[in-house]
Amino acid sequence: LGQSPLLKDQVSFPIGASMNPRLLVENEAYLKLASSEFNSVTAENHMKMMLVHPEANRFDFSKGDEIVRFAQGQQKRMHGHTLVWHNQVPKWMQDFTGDEKAWEDMLKNHIQTVVKHYKGQVAGWDVVNESFLDYGSLRPTIWSKNIPDYIAKSFQWANEADPNATLFYNDYGQDGKPKKMQAILDMVRDLQARHIPIHGLGLQMHININAKNEDIQGVIEQSTATGLAIHFSELDVAVNPKNDSTFVYDDAAKSAQSEKLKLVFQAYRAIPKKQQYGITFWNIGDRDSWLRGYFKRPKEYPLLFDDQYNRKAI
Ligand code: XIL
Repeated sequence: LGQSPLLKDQVSFPIGASMNPRLLVENEAYLKLASSEFNSVTAENHMKMMLVHPEANRFDFSKGDEIVRFAQGQQKRMHGHTLVWHNQVPKWMQDFTGDEKAWEDMLKNHIQTVVKHYKGQVAGWDVVNESFLDYGSLRPTIWSKNIPDYIAKSFQWANEADPNATLFYNDYGQDGKPKKMQAILDMVRDLQARHIPIHGLGLQMHININAKNEDIQGVIEQSTATGLAIHFSELDVAVNPKNDSTFVYDDAAKSAQSEKLKLVFQAYRAIPKKQQYGITFWNIGDRDSWLRGYFKRPKEYPLLFDDQYNRKAI
């Protein structure tokens, strides 16, 4: 990656960022980068259950629609994130009671209402997000507890609602966790054997400068071998993973980060063209990073653009 030309002109696959509708409106520098550097868009939060389906009988697509309008106005590809997850679940779903059929109806209605709303406007969906624990077992959630076959069913329901959407299973931290990676591969094989419509694997790629290159390459190769589309869906490269308050983002940290990013892009370029869905960064500028907000790590600089929205020399 050089400093110029624009990011989207340096790569032969879609390049995106997760975006926040408020910043698109309030911050001109953010809007400028969002518009010029990227050609794919993911809503950072506004298509998640909690935001889109705040009450049992009420959907709120207003903010998601704003992001979609931004993407459409600039001919950018829109990626849908995410239909089924254990985080950012509205209270009414957490408190839901009923038998398996009632749970299925509830989840099916959620998935199909959202997918139909965005049909033709969203190219692909992270149908199911983060279902496996690091040691490979199925994560115990309200979904796995109440709908034992929820992964397969969710893909089927999403596919019924929009047969043209590319449907992804999305997860993080497969590198260095062979059992988690294996669980995902086993799930893919099982779904394929049952003719369940899964089309892609999202590797979130929330990595840090200490991640082992061979681990990263290994999970990319194993994922690619499934033949599915591959999306690096939430890329960031943390430089201060231990949240050291005396951390200094010096030249050594910058060059380690740059090396890691180069490796990720090189590995992506090695994926067969027809499997390249694209690379999405999780946020645009360091100041917007979820690692600062969600993990309360003020001295974290994981992205391509600095706090002033200048492109870094990486
Ligand atoms: C994060 C958002 O960036 C935060 O703003 C929010 O508070 C929590 O979720 N994996 C995912 C994303 O799939 O949806 C998460 O996004 C980051 C981890």
